[in-house]
Amino acid sequence: MNKLKVMTVFGTRPEAIKMAPLVKGIERDKDLESIVCVTAQHREMLDQVLDLFYITPDYDLNIMKSGQTIGEITSRVLLGFDEVLKEVKPDIVLVHGDTTTTFSASLSAFYNQVKVGHVEAGLRSGNKYSPYPEEMNRSLVGKIADLHFSPTIGNKENLLKEGMLEDTIFITGNTVIDALFEVVREDYEFETKKLQEIDFARENVILLTTHRRENLGRPMEDIFDAVNIITNKYPDIQFVFPVHLNPKVRQLADSKLGKNEAVHMIEPLEYAEFANLIGRVQIIMTDSGGVQEEAPAFGKPVLVLRTETERPEAVDAGTVEIVGVDTNRIVEAVSRLMDDKNHYDKMANAVNPYGDGKAVIRTIEAIKEYFGK
Ligand code: UD1
Ligand code: UDP
Repeated sequence: MNKLKVMTVFGTRPEAIKMAPLVKGIERDKDLESIVCVTAQHREMLDQVLDLFYITPDYDLNIMKSGQTIGEITSRVLLGFDEVLKEVKPDIVLVHGDTTTTFSASLSAFYNQVKVGHVEAGLRSGNKYSPYPEEMNRSLVGKIADLHFSPTIGNKENLLKEGMLEDTIFITGNTVIDALFEVVREDYEFETKKLQEIDFARENVILLTTHRRENLGRPMEDIFDAVNIITNKYPDIQFVFPVHLNPKVRQLADSKLGKNEAVHMIEPLEYAEFANLIGRVQIIMTDSGGVQEEAPAFGKPVLVLRTETERPEAVDAGTVEIVGVDTNRIVEAVSRLMDDKNHYDKMANAVNPYGDGKAVIRTIEAIKEYFGK
């Protein structure tokens, strides 16, 4: 019997982390042929993940340019992926999440009348400009997709409200939990020198990440002001801040935090380093989507540096607090965690609303069933 040609396409770090276990699952399945296309919307941060999971792409569009605009990413992916699709003619293209790679590759698949499976489908903030452009990307991909793989029941309900047919939606859990299970170890030893130097059992460490387009500029300055106030107020707190490679983030971080010795600014961490670091720190401050899903699994309080989230499940569970980008509010939220042990213990509540590590199996089963395999 002919194998089903399943093409995965992704371009940024979070897509790669969350697609890697699925690529491995497809490679292992005797009924499926795995073809991987990367857009390389991210270059270095994508390659870090490909190396870790031993994935060699069959096609690499290599589109990244410094300071790229959303329009440029969209058009380069659309042109490049069209050629790949015409050559490969896959049975289905799998895209992930909400990036511009995801949207543009889905559009290209639609133009070529190739089926689309959307992994991490149905998350909605309800605000088309936040996260920007991700909320709109994800909604548009939802319209295009033939199969929707939703992490949670809430995600499925969002899709049903928008008129997607029930038998096209599968609740799978999030593949990020599959990825976490692969790399997290209790006896993990860091390779990064800065992390080796910190005594995580004794010291108060806050992990910070920030990169969102809508936070670039003033909101990010306000976040960094809060960091400086916090380290003044609590001399025993250190920040570990792996700085995203976006030059706009790096310039702001250097100018606002470069002189603060309690803030360890380091290069983006390889995924195994980062995932294990989540498990060792006291508090996480982030505007990342993926980190909001991973940290609750470790029972770490997460302060989200955004005004809303399309991931309400861990907020409902009490582990994640949406604090926004106002300097005073961020300082207050950290102070409360530092000064009120009951409050800290309440938030430090290990929950796993996003998956059980079996999302890959469920996704592959659903694809095979759809094609009658
Ligand atoms: C992109 C996604 C966002 C996702 C984020 C994950 C869009 C519009 N944005 O945002 O949804 O949350 O990735 O991190 O799809 N750069 C490098 N090397 C790299 C990666 C980035 O130099 O490996 C620099 C380049 O100058 C690039 C800039 O960062 O132009 C911004 O990258 P881009 O993908 O446009 O935006 P992100 O903010 O990373
Ligand atoms: N991550 C990583 N190294 C880092 C920072 C983050 O491997 O230095 C991982 C993190 O564990 C998560 C993903 O990258 O799985 C999140 O990526 P990012 O915050 O860039 O994007 P988002 O999730 O907001 O789209």
